[in-house]
Amino acid sequence: MEKTILITGGAGFIGSHVVRLFVNKYPEYKIVNLDALTYAGNLENLTDVDQKSSYVFEKGDIRDADFIDNLFTKYQFDGVLHLAAESHVDRSISDPMAFITTNIIGTVNLLNSARKIWTEGFENKLFYHISTDEVYGSLGEEGFFFEYTGYDPRSPYSASKASSDHLVRAYYHTYGLPVVLTNCSNNYGANQFPEKLIPLAINNIKNMKPIPIYGKGENIRDWLYVVDHARAIDMVFHEGKIGETYNIGGHNEWQNIDLIKELCAIMDRKLKREAGTSESLITYVKDRAGHDLRYAIDATKIKDELGWVPSLQFTEGLEKTVDWYLNNQEWMNRIVSGDYEKYYKKQYVTRDS
Ligand code: NAD
Ligand code: TYD
Repeated sequence: MEKTILITGGAGFIGSHVVRLFVNKYPEYKIVNLDALTYAGNLENLTDVDQKSSYVFEKGDIRDADFIDNLFTKYQFDGVLHLAAESHVDRSISDPMAFITTNIIGTVNLLNSARKIWTEGFENKLFYHISTDEVYGSLGEEGFFFEYTGYDPRSPYSASKASSDHLVRAYYHTYGLPVVLTNCSNNYGANQFPEKLIPLAINNIKNMKPIPIYGKGENIRDWLYVVDHARAIDMVFHEGKIGETYNIGGHNEWQNIDLIKELCAIMDRKLKREAGTSESLITYVKDRAGHDLRYAIDATKIKDELGWVPSLQFTEGLEKTVDWYLNNQEWMNRIVSGDYEKYYKKQYVTRDS
């Protein structure tokens, strides 16, 4: 079946994996990637698919309601996969407003445009909102996040995502907009911006720089390989029940310090360094304000209802991830040097102004 699909945030980390999967798996779909190309957006993530005739890139900001309305009018989307967001907790602590405008207002702009354009009824339409497990707050040593767990966000990032989740559900209940939501645990893999723990650590280890560990490194995250997240998104988009929420997670909890030690051992091996060399770079630094202790997802619902399970064991995924960053040093160098941001400013100057 032919469809025109909007993917927002498709130049970012997870979005680029979703775009790749959809463009390759569904050549009959037109895939429109809308991205503002903030510091986190990088079209270099998509060079293997951007020449396909079914793929279109649109540079634009979800905070601009008129632009979003015009885009919906131009393409008459059948479905929306909404990933565009400000996504880094530390940045949300230093600059919350960007998270409020993009994550909340930007989401409402998309919901409003979908409502306006789908005037002939909502049949075969879908607004899919991609969210995070951080909306559920912080767990103690026991327990898991379920789909029915009450929201208790504790950072400006998670509060802005929680707010957007509530608004998506409000549009379903109030206007009947066909929506589906997923809340996923921490992702890792290729193309992740090196402000997040794993690519930051890989880059620092490679360059023999300190690996900053917040607090005592005791915080726990539940890590999922990004390609497995993209597979889950594909399943939920095609088979998920309208109005429902699905939790996605790896059943793969790691204390930060243990994860980093595992990574150090892999890096020593790959870089042919003496065992222990990378671990000596571990440096404990001041803790993140309001640092959530533990996240852990119960992903039984998506397993039972849609048959989704992660395909990779963590050590295998981590090895693949390290290989990707070591084999794509240019990608990392361009980001770290800021070259790609300068390139975009130059490249899109006529369309922006
Ligand atoms: P990312 O920061 O790597 O990418 C975000 C993308 O959105 C970038 O390409 C950026 O340019 C674009 N963007 C930002 N503001 C925009 C705006 N105003 N208009 C248009 N585009 C804009 O993020 P990610 O890690 O790929 O996360 C994608 C989504 O998945 C987010 O909604 C995030 O909350 C969610 N999520 C992420 C994780 C994770 O571990 N990274 C886990 C669960 C859920
Ligand atoms: P991060 O990758 O920022 O994801 P999130 O905050 O969304 O879970 O951080 C993962 C964990 O690693 C989190 O507990 C914070 C910690 N962390 C560090 O210890 N040092 C760092 O330099 C970073 C970026 C994160």
